[in-house]
Amino acid sequence: MAPPYTSPYVLSSLLLLLSIPAVVLLAPRLLLPRTLPAIPDADESDDLALFRRAVLLSSSGSGAGGAGGFVVRGRPQPKVAFLFLTNSDLVFAPLWEKFFAGHHGLLNLYVHADPSAVLASPPTPSFRGRFISGGKATARASATLISAARRLLATALLDDPANHFFALLSQSCVPLHPFPTLYRTLLSDNNNAGAGHRRRHRSFIEILDSEPTLHDRYYARGDNVMLPEVPFDAFRVGSQFFVLARRHAVMVVRDRRLWNKFKVPCLVKEKDSCYPEEHYFPTLLDMQDPDGCTKYTLTRVNWTDAVDGHPHTYQPEEVSGELIGELRKSNGTYSHMFARKFAPECLGPLMEIADSVILRD
Ligand SMILES: *[C@@H]1O[C@H](CO)[C@@H](O)[C@H](O)[C@H]1NC(C)=O
Ligand SMILES: *[C@@H]1O[C@H](CO)[C@@H](O)[C@H](O)[C@H]1NC(C)=O
Repeated sequence: MAPPYTSPYVLSSLLLLLSIPAVVLLAPRLLLPRTLPAIPDADESDDLALFRRAVLLSSSGSGAGGAGGFVVRGRPQPKVAFLFLTNSDLVFAPLWEKFFAGHHGLLNLYVHADPSAVLASPPTPSFRGRFISGGKATARASATLISAARRLLATALLDDPANHFFALLSQSCVPLHPFPTLYRTLLSDNNNAGAGHRRRHRSFIEILDSEPTLHDRYYARGDNVMLPEVPFDAFRVGSQFFVLARRHAVMVVRDRRLWNKFKVPCLVKEKDSCYPEEHYFPTLLDMQDPDGCTKYTLTRVNWTDAVDGHPHTYQPEEVSGELIGELRKSNGTYSHMFARKFAPECLGPLMEIADSVILRD
């Protein structure tokens, strides 16, 4: 059978015809600047359902389904919720166990682990069963770290109405004082915003407005992307690790307006200016309740000689009583309560000075 005759002309017009849809489909992608990966829609809708429940429960003022806790004169004793964000083993768990020991009536633990994290050792008793469900992958230079922190806040709000303070920590954080010192500090701080104002607990979150990196970081998603919700003048930066008062935890979980801006992926070419988790929380709280925040953090971090956005990581030979004393010093009203980052190998030396230095004032 003779092959069907096809003229070169027909072939080329056919190719041209076929390529039209491809051009139509691809052109917008080719023209738009390339961005880093966005948050998957499915993750977004899971979160939204969780956040709605947390806000609903918190605004109803009831603790339906929550664990009660200590009751003193009809009111539950306030608790501190420790929120651990991790993508590896919680290597300092033995130190945290010492820190928590004897105070379990005044605290709760929650862990958000990246599902891809391979945990080499089983959780120690306080962390057992405290890994929250619905943990999602986290990555640098994306809003996934914000989502993970909001998931932890929402879960802790729902879990126990006695959770009064919410301390976000990572696997490389360590305590610098005994638990009662932290507890006393958080509970005794009130803002005295003049007569007629109700005394309220403050959140301990760093809020800075004149860092040299602000400009590049504001434009990391492109020109005008943040407008009109977040004008440059309102854009703030601060440590990713904070302690929030309960009303601020609700505020963060309720927010959709700013989240819709901060979740926009950064442009690929702006990857080095993409740290949304250092901006979202300080910007939101500074817009909604500036007087309710200390504007400094209780978590010490050493940015001297920082490399590629990573602060100094303490090594075992650096761990000493003097170092703990140095890290506790703060320019704020209160001493630092936590510090990061410590290399996993520091566990041994830290345990050696736990009773004599870290957990003693
Ligand atoms: C901070 O890190 C630098 C090295 O990057 C180190 O020389 C310095 O001693 C550290 N400061 C404190 C207070 O640990
Ligand atoms: C305290 O403030 C001084 C002066 O601004 C600064 O050099 C120092 O690093 C600050 N210390 C801490 C622990 O933040």
